[in-house]
Amino acid sequence: MNKLSFKGIVLFLLVVLAACGTSNNEEQSEGTNGTDEKQTLSVVTEAGFMPFTYLDKGELVGFDIDLLAAVMEEAGYDYKLENVGWDAMLLSVEDGKADLAIAGITVNEDRKESYDFSSPYFESTHKVVFREGENITSGQDIKDLKVGVQAGTTGAEAVEKILGKNHEYISKYDSNTLALMSLQSGDVDAVVTDNVVADEYVANNPEANVEMITDPETFESEFYGIMFPKGSEVKADIDAALQTVIENGTYTEIYQEWFGAEPDLEALTQ
Ligand code: ARG
Repeated sequence: MNKLSFKGIVLFLLVVLAACGTSNNEEQSEGTNGTDEKQTLSVVTEAGFMPFTYLDKGELVGFDIDLLAAVMEEAGYDYKLENVGWDAMLLSVEDGKADLAIAGITVNEDRKESYDFSSPYFESTHKVVFREGENITSGQDIKDLKVGVQAGTTGAEAVEKILGKNHEYISKYDSNTLALMSLQSGDVDAVVTDNVVADEYVANNPEANVEMITDPETFESEFYGIMFPKGSEVKADIDAALQTVIENGTYTEIYQEWFGAEPDLEALTQ
């Protein structure tokens, strides 16, 4: 009798263990096989970059934010989006705490050493924004001026190429918004930033009395991409979804909504 019930217990335990095993496996395969439950990805941004990513009455909005929503929907992921600041954004992607970042981030060789990127989704270059009356007709004319930039951006690099690395006339700010404010307050004479962001700022701040120039000889063309940790497992899915969204007209719709113009889709395939 005793022996029998012992066997019974062992059998019972084995059945329970086997059941646990199966249910664990099932849980793990959910989400990744994309059938029922969606996997939730952690997305980070820096929302001081109007019209790509910014806060409107406390809500994250912008071209990048709408594009992100379309791409995630297409790829079949849920996501949690957080505005964490530029440096924290880069760090959390680098160490894999975040699954991806979108924030008008330029893809370049330097960054490719530490991050993976989607294919390009937007072409950009730099503009110099300066107070009216300043005699600036080319990028090189900022040489003797106090110039504000957002630290750690390609704009900062472009200015360092002209003035010299860590030149005393270069003021580096934590955000692009702060750099532009310092132009208005007179702390700097000019700000170098991404062309569309410069356009938006000048259009929205007529009282700031600023002008701007672009200079293709000094400022190269760059492309924005979605940024992932190196070796990201979701990059392939998201890249495929981005291509679909570009090809099926969704990208064009979002582009028209934000920029009131037709996108140059050819430029993105180069
Ligand atoms: N495109 C530039 C870069 O990648 C500036 C990006 C700034 N983006 C932002 N959200 N503040 O360096």
